[in-house]
Amino acid sequence: MEKLLKNVNVLAITCLQWGDTGKGKLVDLFALWADIIARGTGGDNAGHTICYNGNTYVFHIVPSGILYDKDGKINIIGNGTVVYAKTLCNELGLLTANGLSYQNLMLAWNAKLILPSHILLDRVRESGKDGRIGSTGKGIAPTYMDHVGRKGLIVNDLLNPDIFAAKLKRHLVEKRLLLKNYDHGLIQEIMAHEHLEHGAYYNAKKIFDEESIIQKYLAYGQKLRPLIKDTDNFLRNAHKGGAKILLEGAQGNLLSIDHGTYPYVTSSDCSVAGLAKGVGLSARDVDKSLGIIKGFYETRVGEGPFPTEMGGKESDLWCNGGQATKEIEAAKYAKVPINWQSAFDQGVGIRIRGGEYGATTGRPRRTGWLDLPLLSYSIKFSGPEVVLTKLDVLDECEVIKICSAYRYEGPTFQHADRTIKAGDVLKDVIPNDEFLKHCVPIYREFPGWQCSIEKTRNFTDLPSKLKDILQFIVEETGIDPKIISVGADREATIFV
Ligand code: GDP
Ligand code: IMO
Ligand code: MG
Repeated sequence: MEKLLKNVNVLAITCLQWGDTGKGKLVDLFALWADIIARGTGGDNAGHTICYNGNTYVFHIVPSGILYDKDGKINIIGNGTVVYAKTLCNELGLLTANGLSYQNLMLAWNAKLILPSHILLDRVRESGKDGRIGSTGKGIAPTYMDHVGRKGLIVNDLLNPDIFAAKLKRHLVEKRLLLKNYDHGLIQEIMAHEHLEHGAYYNAKKIFDEESIIQKYLAYGQKLRPLIKDTDNFLRNAHKGGAKILLEGAQGNLLSIDHGTYPYVTSSDCSVAGLAKGVGLSARDVDKSLGIIKGFYETRVGEGPFPTEMGGKESDLWCNGGQATKEIEAAKYAKVPINWQSAFDQGVGIRIRGGEYGATTGRPRRTGWLDLPLLSYSIKFSGPEVVLTKLDVLDECEVIKICSAYRYEGPTFQHADRTIKAGDVLKDVIPNDEFLKHCVPIYREFPGWQCSIEKTRNFTDLPSKLKDILQFIVEETGIDPKIISVGADREATIFV
């Protein structure tokens, strides 16, 4: 670690795929080096897992450096995040219940507030067939929409009751109008959800009970008061003073609002630039950027194009149909069918072997082979230094397929000044649904290593078959692998 971080003051850890690549594990690992750990994007749509000492922790909004709070390390929830006070207060309660502290946790005064109306709007929009993104239902898009629409509420409003009440009233007038055309039964059902405090914010005549929202939010504000700080200034000063700063990404480049597979993306910029901005720094302040990919496969939760998905449409329908759960799959596939002939079954096998079920929603993550055109595209936003996680998941695979190019099989597609026709073979990506959904992967096949690597701790001891695949990817994309993760635990890590 010392060699990798020589002369580094600001390290950013982001994901190069569609999220869930192990940011939690890596941030927890590097928190040992850092003085400050800061999140700058997203909200409780994220689910970051840390496995340490036989315990598993999942954080949605609290940064993954929090296990080091007791050692005086500072964790920051930055200005670029969207915060649902209930989730944050719940996580603080869980920390206390687990004997963990958060006395050095800071919450940006100017982080954006997720309101009950945002969650309701997110969920009613997702309930229709058209325009479904498969969001996490946490109100992320409506909150960021209000922010860029210059009418959002911020954390600091919780400390000023009159300002909060006035802003909220104005906000609800507009939201009621927006909700007028939706079925009231559906609204009532969503408002009764546990995430919306079992109907506490609901009023049968006015949709929202203003007084109840004010009362509850101000009470959350009182709980959060000791955490609320000018974190942008704090971090900039700490940076000037030479502090070691670790930036924790959320989601992944392919979910970025600016660079991802639009419109099937989240609403923040998950790239290094977006992350730095979300904590009050500039991208130029980042001395090293590590992008994470899953070792030789990838996953996606929710809707959207996924050229290398194992089982294609069948897998998409199964995972997004709302019926498939971890329990159902475990019962149906008692033995992990990782080498089954059917691509769909193999996708299920990798899902079960990798525990690929959403840390936030529990949804099955769609699985597919590593896609080099998408990887080459993604490293443009984070640089070539990468971490490969979860290689142990493919231990038993007889054959490993890597997508090295696409054959386009759709109608003629005009991309700026370039015309793409059926039959064209491409190695580069247009990050657009209308292009990607017609791309058929061209695979290069490799024999699997078929032995356990979870106890390996040195790069030289990894199987040569694994290293051959890695070498192929390096040559094709120009990535520079720095770390290989062979298990969920902190220790199961190899520095290349
Ligand atoms: P994040 O959103 O990027 O933080 O990732 P998640 O926590 O949502 O999902 C990653 C999952 O993989 C978690 O359950 C981790 O504990 C687990 N994990 C991380 N690295 C490895 C690894 O190298 N091998 C295995 N088997 N699991 C890993
Ligand atoms: P972490 O940080 C995986 C996906 C959702 C959906 C789309 C939009 O754990 O990697 P949103 O609720 O943000 O409006 O949903 O983005 N998504 C994630 N997928 N990991 C995440 O976070 C995600 N956060 C959002 O599934 O497709
Ligand atoms: Mg996750």
